[in-house]
Amino acid sequence: MSKKGVFLCLEGMDGSGKSSQLNLLLEELGRRGIGAVRIREPGGTDISEKIRNLILSPVHTKMSPKTELLLYSAARAQLLHEVVEPALAEGKMVLADRFAWSTIAYQGYGRNLDQSMIRALCEIAVGDCWPAHTFILDIPVEVFRQRAEKDARELDRMEQEKQDFFERVRLGYQDLAAANPHRMTLLDGTKSPMVVHKEIMDKVLTLI
Ligand SMILES: Nc1ncnc2c1ncn2[C@@H]1O[C@H](COP(=O)(O)OP(=O)(O)OP(=O)(O)O)[C@@H](O)[C@H]1O
Ligand SMILES: [Mg+2]
Repeated sequence: MSKKGVFLCLEGMDGSGKSSQLNLLLEELGRRGIGAVRIREPGGTDISEKIRNLILSPVHTKMSPKTELLLYSAARAQLLHEVVEPALAEGKMVLADRFAWSTIAYQGYGRNLDQSMIRALCEIAVGDCWPAHTFILDIPVEVFRQRAEKDARELDRMEQEKQDFFERVRLGYQDLAAANPHRMTLLDGTKSPMVVHKEIMDKVLTLI
């Protein structure tokens, strides 16, 4: 039987550099002849992208925290079923731009939903398909604001939340990293992109 692929994940607050780092990582892996399947959350399948639009549209001001939680979980279950599990079974590497840790940080810490309910839902959606390792990019909330301003882009429904929401989300990620030292690395996302990239690459090379 062929070897199961490696599942890695990048996490962190909005604007912390996840997508930029995934680009750098994919380029470097490509140079070494290593292919990988890239996914983003929420999204990555027809059904999940439709759910993504529902969740993030600033029009949906009435969405309850529980609805939000269930929609994220549904999008994730579909992504695992359609993309992640088949890719890993074929021995491919999967690189995720956010995963269930985002739900724990945003809906758990940010929205103050009951942590045991969140964990239970994550278990339902994810089963035993958790990433082997997760890199969390840590930035102060002000840095997210500055980067969003620099990019001059419209903020989605989550990004329109207030300062204290993001302070809680950041704390959530820091708590997760502290509680999972063997499968998470907390990185300073304010360092230069190439410095962060090297830190990620050094660890990835020990995992593949
Ligand atoms: N280490 C860094 N130092 C300075 N700026 C950075 C760094 N990493 C990324 N940026 C810039 O910050 C902005 C957000 O980066 P990026 O889109 O990679 O973040 P993200 O975590 O994917 O955000 P989102 O959650 O909104 O998708 C971009 O303008 C990017 O060029
Ligand atoms: Mg991104």
